[in-house]
Amino acid sequence: MNTEAIIRPRVLSGMRPTGALHLGHYHGALKNWVRLQATHDCFFFVADWHALTTHYQQREDIEKNVYDMVVDWLAAGIDPEQATLFIQSRMPEHAELFTLLAMSTPSSWLERIPSYKDQVEKNKELATYGFLGYPLLQAADILIYKAAFVPVGEDQTAHVEVTREVARRFNRIYDTPVFPEPQTLLTESSRLTGLDGQKMSKSAGNAIAMRDAPELVEEKIRTMPTDPQRVRRSDAGDPARCPVWPLHELYTNAGTRADLAEGCKTAGIGCLDCKQPLIDAIQKEQAPWRERANEYLANPKQVHWIVEVGAERARAVARKTLREVRSAMGLAY
Ligand code: TRP
Ligand code: SF4
Repeated sequence: MNTEAIIRPRVLSGMRPTGALHLGHYHGALKNWVRLQATHDCFFFVADWHALTTHYQQREDIEKNVYDMVVDWLAAGIDPEQATLFIQSRMPEHAELFTLLAMSTPSSWLERIPSYKDQVEKNKELATYGFLGYPLLQAADILIYKAAFVPVGEDQTAHVEVTREVARRFNRIYDTPVFPEPQTLLTESSRLTGLDGQKMSKSAGNAIAMRDAPELVEEKIRTMPTDPQRVRRSDAGDPARCPVWPLHELYTNAGTRADLAEGCKTAGIGCLDCKQPLIDAIQKEQAPWRERANEYLANPKQVHWIVEVGAERARAVARKTLREVRSAMGLAY
């Protein structure tokens, strides 16, 4: 192990395996992971058990979704030499910690998580023990590595907060400072607009996948709706009303953007003229992803090997924490 890794603060994050990732995942999370791996001891894992808390009836998709996602992580530039990558279900240690933490965690802490009751109300299939335990499983994921930082979006902050409470309570009850309290590293800009101007998401069918072919990207952007008040080429438009514009704000430089805005407001340019630099920028960003992804897709064994090596690295840390936990709880026999 390199000596630097020992002093780098540890970062841990997970993603549920939703299959091929889209630009929202890249700009909302992955880009940040790629940055963090250079300065922190990063553990990134596929939260496949968490996927099963809601999709326990869909076993057909899960394996493909797991590996498609890992390929996209690697494609985005996550470097398995720098970061530790693994799959949650290969780590029964998380399940042991989950069980042990469950003993002292008040069920009210889980029931009062914002949105928990709503979600169960809306979907009776979520009235399970596993779904109630979702945040505690997440706490086990985080605490087993004594992570200092957890990069997540806004929607996950309540889970990290519960994790902190669980850590505090454990340390107090067993009078041993086993767990540090993790900090949330809030990921911004996770609300990339999709093709229809709504938040980009796979389920809404408005996403551009990281690995969409260049022709498909072109087609998707060209058919995107624009300012609804700009019906004809000769109508002046306003970027503020246009669903294409937030993508320009992410992809196009300020100078080009000023020209385009001017052209839009004076009907000096057509919408396809406006969209072209965006198409170019997205295709350019995707090219190295596709190249890296193709190498891994041609070599699936390598991907399996990467997550197995990662699991063994993670396991060394997890087992050490578990020894401390068992000992604190009087289970060291
Ligand atoms: N619940 C997270 C999500 O849906 C995924 C996740 C599981 C996670 N365990 C984690 C994130 C631990 C950070 C740390 O996005
Ligand atoms: Fe939107 Fe550009 Fe068309 Fe203006 S010119 S409406 S910003 S696509």
